[in-house]
Amino acid sequence: MFLKTQTPMKSVYMRVPYNHFNTNYSQMKVIAINGSPNKGGNTFHALQMVGNELIASGIDFEILHIGHKMIHGCTACNKCAANKDEKCVIKTDDLNEWIQQIKQADGIILGSPVHYSGIAGTMKSFLDRLFYVSGANGNFFRHKVGAAVTSVRRTGGSVTFDSLNHYLNYSEMIIATSNYWNVIHGAGAGEVLGDAEGMQIMRVLGKNMAWLLKMKEATTHSIEPPQIEKKEKTNFIR
Ligand SMILES: Cc1cc2nc3c(=O)[nH]c(=O)nc-3n(C[C@H](O)[C@H](O)[C@H](O)COP(=O)(O)O)c2cc1C
Repeated sequence: MFLKTQTPMKSVYMRVPYNHFNTNYSQMKVIAINGSPNKGGNTFHALQMVGNELIASGIDFEILHIGHKMIHGCTACNKCAANKDEKCVIKTDDLNEWIQQIKQADGIILGSPVHYSGIAGTMKSFLDRLFYVSGANGNFFRHKVGAAVTSVRRTGGSVTFDSLNHYLNYSEMIIATSNYWNVIHGAGAGEVLGDAEGMQIMRVLGKNMAWLLKMKEATTHSIEPPQIEKKEKTNFIR
């Protein structure tokens, strides 16, 4: 562990003994979105595996199940950008409540089953509106710790994992990783419990995510985060 110390002339790094670590973390929380229509299906199990490691590290963990709801897609009205009230103008679902719930969390996990080699439809509608509202309102997921997981019977896992990561990347989130793509294999509910490698991927992800959260918390007062930049939009034609 190295801490940066400032002097008028130069900055130097010095080694800090282990007992310097601040272990008095404020209670942190991770919210995991289950984008599967199945409440106790494979995506749920994958999220729970990650969550078990977070809980073991003293971090609160909650699964928000949205994959069985009727959730409208983004209509591209851009009212969230005009109104700047952290809300989507579509009122036929509970998205605005979920936005505030997710905003309170220190970490966010996006979980989706693979449907036709992509994010499940309801989850895609949810994510488009959630992240569009965030982006239009000062990017309030910026620097939260994020991760994506997907469950799949056979193929389409990595493309779905990549697609989920787009939301995290765009939002300048700090992405937790594992020792492979965060994909677990199974068809019927619970079959993923037979995928030893997939389960390890989820365990390692949970441990790494807990560590990242604690590192971020421990440096809140010692390392200043970069200022947000105003977004350049060139659209490739101008
Ligand atoms: C509409 C639909 C599309 C699917 N498409 C794929 C696919 O493209 N590739 C695949 O391997 N499995 C596919 N599956 C299977 C699921 O990805 C797999 O059973 C997954 O583990 C389900 O997760 P869940 O229990 O959380 O819903 C599909 C399932 C459904 C219902």
